[in-house]
Amino acid sequence: MALYSEKLMDHFRNPRNMGSIEDANGIGEVGNAKCGDIMKIYLKIENDVVKDVKFETFGCGSAIASSSMATEMIKGKPLSEVKKLTNKAVAEALDGMPPHKMHCSVLAEEAVLSALKDYGERTGKTV
Ligand code: FES
Repeated sequence: MALYSEKLMDHFRNPRNMGSIEDANGIGEVGNAKCGDIMKIYLKIENDVVKDVKFETFGCGSAIASSSMATEMIKGKPLSEVKKLTNKAVAEALDGMPPHKMHCSVLAEEAVLSALKDYGERTGKTV
């Protein structure tokens, strides 16, 4: 069996929503101290819905694929759903990841939650 799923390879080769959002109102940046990879998520939230989302990931292929999938999973979604995003759900949506790469999907969960937290701090809203 191939180490990486077709879907993961597709999101790595053709990442969705890569880039930044100039007027983002929630930005989250997280890193993994062990591998040194960094992931940044930009959210544009309107009426408690993620209108737009982009990411910048300086990291491995699994981290890039995880960011790409995570942005697809939260785009257009209400915050009540977005805050429930888990790394497990991201990995499953990518048709699985090798166990030693699961920490890459954790970065995606953490970056999204960190961006939500930033949005809460900027707006004074409880997210
Ligand atoms: Fe560090 Fe993938 S190896 S995020």
